Amino acid sequence: MKLIGNITFKGDKSISHRAIMLASICNGESIIANVPDSEDINSTISALRNCGISIKKNNYQLTIIGNTFKTPKKEINCQNSGTTMRLLSGLLSFKKIKCSLIGDSSLSRRPMDRIVGPMNELGIKATSNKGYPPINLIDFKDTKLDNITIDLPSAQVKSCIIFSLLGTRKKIRIYEKFQTRNHLELMIKSLFKELITVNEEYIEINPINCQKMNGFNIEIPGDISSASYFIVAASLIDKSRLVINNLLLNKSRIGIIDSLIKMGANIDISYDKKMNSLNEPTGTVIINGVKALRAVNISPDHIPSMIDEIPILSLACAYAKGQSTISGLDELKYKESNRLNGIYNILSSMGVDVKLNKNSIKINGSNKLYNTNKLNNCNDHRLAMMISIAQMKENNLIEYPECINISFPDFKNILDKVIS
Ligand code: S3P
Repeated sequence: MKLIGNITFKGDKSISHRAIMLASICNGESIIANVPDSEDINSTISALRNCGISIKKNNYQLTIIGNTFKTPKKEINCQNSGTTMRLLSGLLSFKKIKCSLIGDSSLSRRPMDRIVGPMNELGIKATSNKGYPPINLIDFKDTKLDNITIDLPSAQVKSCIIFSLLGTRKKIRIYEKFQTRNHLELMIKSLFKELITVNEEYIEINPINCQKMNGFNIEIPGDISSASYFIVAASLIDKSRLVINNLLLNKSRIGIIDSLIKMGANIDISYDKKMNSLNEPTGTVIINGVKALRAVNISPDHIPSMIDEIPILSLACAYAKGQSTISGLDELKYKESNRLNGIYNILSSMGVDVKLNKNSIKINGSNKLYNTNKLNNCNDHRLAMMISIAQMKENNLIEYPECINISFPDFKNILDKVIS
């Protein structure tokens, strides 16, 4: 069995959330093409509709009429989506909408002090339930700060802060201790240049009249996190060949490709000459399967560029020659499930020699994995897809649990198309 084909992916989930939210605060109509029909994106759409925003869906294209906010009649349910809850809290603070944001049982266990703390520092009266949802947005004052520093490696925190500061009356700088995905900065810079200054050191939000932001027309490039399952699978299976077009290749997101290349994968990248309208680099990635990958050491500073790809990277390590070490995985404990424990349990159940030590994991590769079916995916989409790829590689029955629809409803269709 091998993977052969030419494929593309629906738009990147992180960029889609941000584009939809940005459109909601612009005047008039925005058109956003290639938006995935994933449950997380639908959570953002329904949350904004509950705040009075008109969003029409036509296949994978959204038409959004912005700036018609009204206070929601009841709590806003962000369901499973941490990005929805964290970014929307910032956005609704900018719009001075008093409301409460809730989530499902997984989201209700995820830390929110990371946004409530900085929002309070900025002058927004917001509360959480002892650091967890619900979040209540209570009152909004102009910030007195000149700068704010983000201590955690979290793009969600950064984007929450940027959204909340859009109506600032004075310049304010945001410093990040760790570099994280920069989609919102790039998007604002490409559409409303005068609003933001971005350089290696800081992001500066400039005081401008946000009432002047007008709707836009963009297309979202293919989701690199969804593609990662196929990039790993094709790398692991000799004689595979996949060509992926129109893929997001932002440096802050392609840690998985860099890591696989270090492991000896045969991956060729060609960047599109013209930058995508969002200032995002895109391109074509060609993967040819190899006989074997070799072990790799990943240090903490590389983790933000592949934070959602650690489960599938761990599976690649489980098949690589030698012992791999991935360090700096603290943030994995706070995802849709405790993914660090999840990875450990899944790989151990498959017979892999794996050791967990606080925030790092050591994986001894082997040629074959066992018992790949009926494993506990913790109802976490990324763990579920990691397991499906192991099942495929071992020629076992491939399971497609429903939770995969959280990020990647096309997963099965695309896999069916390329398996030969
Ligand atoms: C995301 C950032 C990451 C990632 C999440 C999506 C985003 O979370 O894990 O799936 O769109 O900003 P953190 O920023 O909390 O690490």
